[in-house]
Amino acid sequence: MDVVDQLRKLRAEIEKHDHRYYVLDDPLVSDAEYDRLFRELQALEAAHPELVTHDSPTQRVGGKPLDSFRPVRHVVQMLSIRTETDTEATGAYAFDARVRNLLGLGDGNPPVEYAAELKFDGLAINLRYEAGVLVCAVTRGDGETGEDVTENVRTVNQVPLRLRADNPPDVLEVRGEIYMKRADFERFNARALSRGEKTLVNPRNGAAGSIRQLDSRVAATRPLSFFAYGLGETKGWDVPPTHSDVLDALVAFGLPVCGERAVLSGPEALAAFHARIGERRGQLPFDIDGVVYKVNSRALQQELGFVSREPRWAVAHKYPAEEATTEVLGIDVQVGRTGALTPVARLAPVFVGGVTVTNATLHNEDEVRRKDVHVGDTVVVRRAGDVIPEVVRALPEKRPILAPEFVMPVTCPVCGSHIVRAEDEAVARCSGGLYCPAQRKQALLHFASRRAMDIEGLGDKLVEQLVDNDLVHTPADLYRLDRSTLANLERMAEKSADNLLAAIEKSKQTTLARFIFALGIRNVGEATAKDLARHFCSLERVLAASEEALLEVADIGPVVAQYLRQFLDEPHNIEVIKQLRAAGVAWPEGEPQPVGGPLTGKTFVLTGTLPSLSREQAKALIEAAGGKVSGSVSKKTDYVVAGAEAGSKLEKAVSLNLNVIDEAQFRSLVDH
Ligand code: IVH
Repeated sequence: MDVVDQLRKLRAEIEKHDHRYYVLDDPLVSDAEYDRLFRELQALEAAHPELVTHDSPTQRVGGKPLDSFRPVRHVVQMLSIRTETDTEATGAYAFDARVRNLLGLGDGNPPVEYAAELKFDGLAINLRYEAGVLVCAVTRGDGETGEDVTENVRTVNQVPLRLRADNPPDVLEVRGEIYMKRADFERFNARALSRGEKTLVNPRNGAAGSIRQLDSRVAATRPLSFFAYGLGETKGWDVPPTHSDVLDALVAFGLPVCGERAVLSGPEALAAFHARIGERRGQLPFDIDGVVYKVNSRALQQELGFVSREPRWAVAHKYPAEEATTEVLGIDVQVGRTGALTPVARLAPVFVGGVTVTNATLHNEDEVRRKDVHVGDTVVVRRAGDVIPEVVRALPEKRPILAPEFVMPVTCPVCGSHIVRAEDEAVARCSGGLYCPAQRKQALLHFASRRAMDIEGLGDKLVEQLVDNDLVHTPADLYRLDRSTLANLERMAEKSADNLLAAIEKSKQTTLARFIFALGIRNVGEATAKDLARHFCSLERVLAASEEALLEVADIGPVVAQYLRQFLDEPHNIEVIKQLRAAGVAWPEGEPQPVGGPLTGKTFVLTGTLPSLSREQAKALIEAAGGKVSGSVSKKTDYVVAGAEAGSKLEKAVSLNLNVIDEAQFRSLVDH
């Protein structure tokens, strides 16, 4: 075989692997094998520099910095898209009604067919392939003229330098979005931070900023991704009749198209799509700011046409913004169950992520310094999904002259005890323990919480009163409350007092695992409490266990063992436990042990949405069969059960070469 053939073969082989790895997320060979092929190609090209082609997989590394980007006129205008800001349901209905009206279809049947997809939050780009080779990548610009960012876009691994086709179209312009996955963004920033380099503000700015780099070698270091969602100019290609067929064709050409798309009929289905994606928005591996509905038939698209640079056949149906700016009115310090002090920004009320937010966490002292948040600052607040709102960054250019810096108190703002901060910890803690009313309140709330003793109706307000009026000091005091004391509290009628007493009574029947968890021992979460209960089977044995004996429990390490021992060596804690038992708190002794179940000793991680089982159901099945569920993937994980939308955990599992199984395989394991 001559060198030219050899090069062609090697490049085709590497392109195939790139496609499997970057686009299909389904690699065929190990990293080592891939690296070997890549180095072979590099060596061969080094020996024959005259045979290096621009579309060779080795040519993605970036080149000389540019002085400026060349303006390029779009052959087909790059349009914007109308945004439907109405509520969930009406957005889809309003769009469908407009489309039907314009097409003269009247009400009702037959419904119009739509393609529904995600609205990616990145930078729009036009890729031009001539005879199957990427020749140019241009930003949207003003829609008429954009900037030539080809050198930067070539560094994006998901953008094929060559189409997978024997007879590629003469011209194929592909439109899509350059974006950054959240995990890539976090990883990039963590590394930048550890090197003292500048961090990216958010994934969207990360993507847009990287593509606007004049130095493509810098762009090459940025972890960017790409999704195709449309067409520009085409020549020498029979464009398929529907948008969904076009996307399928792009997939066949080797372009990445997001799998989260659907062909739907009528507005009800569109609204359901909007709602379904909205629920899972936080679990997607990348940011979206809405969904997009497009009339599927290209003939109907043409009939509908455009108004003021927006197609009449497409609409973006947005979700509430996850970030907003507001003013910091003050910075309070809250004391948590374990005494951890958390600086919390009190904010001018702002609507973000679908709710009005007045507080946002600043995590800890170092975070306040790093983000340089002062009282009076204008800040960006983020609330994504159910995650607690956080201050993302301050906008120092808007800082008023008098904006005091945050100072961490030296004594606990609630009880006046000393604040201590361990050398290796970011968290400062109040040393007051249960002497501190704030810690006591949190400890009681934890004790009563659903997954612990499950005392229904014992919430914030009530605990606040019980502690402030000196009625309850320890969890054991809860079991001594009587009707007249409770009925005297604010907002407590006799009926609610009775309900609470009944709930307290009911909580006495519990399980050993719940009881251990309820004690609120530092670092002993639900899973560890279950491990302890399963391992020792009786409280007496837990109390008597040495640190060494505790270390024998699966998943308990030296730190947890030490905290446990410390807690159990504290006479005060033992006294509370005694009192609780004396009050009648009990559990089935020698609970049935799942030891010997088919999954005994196996650790599972659940990720993504399974077709028929909820997380809770899958977890229950695993535990009933003697297995354990962990929240994070590690070398110790035995199985990763992956469903739709599995994200970084799945990636990690694959990189660690773990057993990844689907729901069907999982069920057969359980039933074994
Ligand atoms: S279609 C003619 N589809 O949203 C329709 N746009 O103003 C042109 N975008 O910045 C756009 N996801 O980059 C379309 N699935 C999607 C999209 C999408 C994100 C962006 C696009 C542009 C803006 C539209």
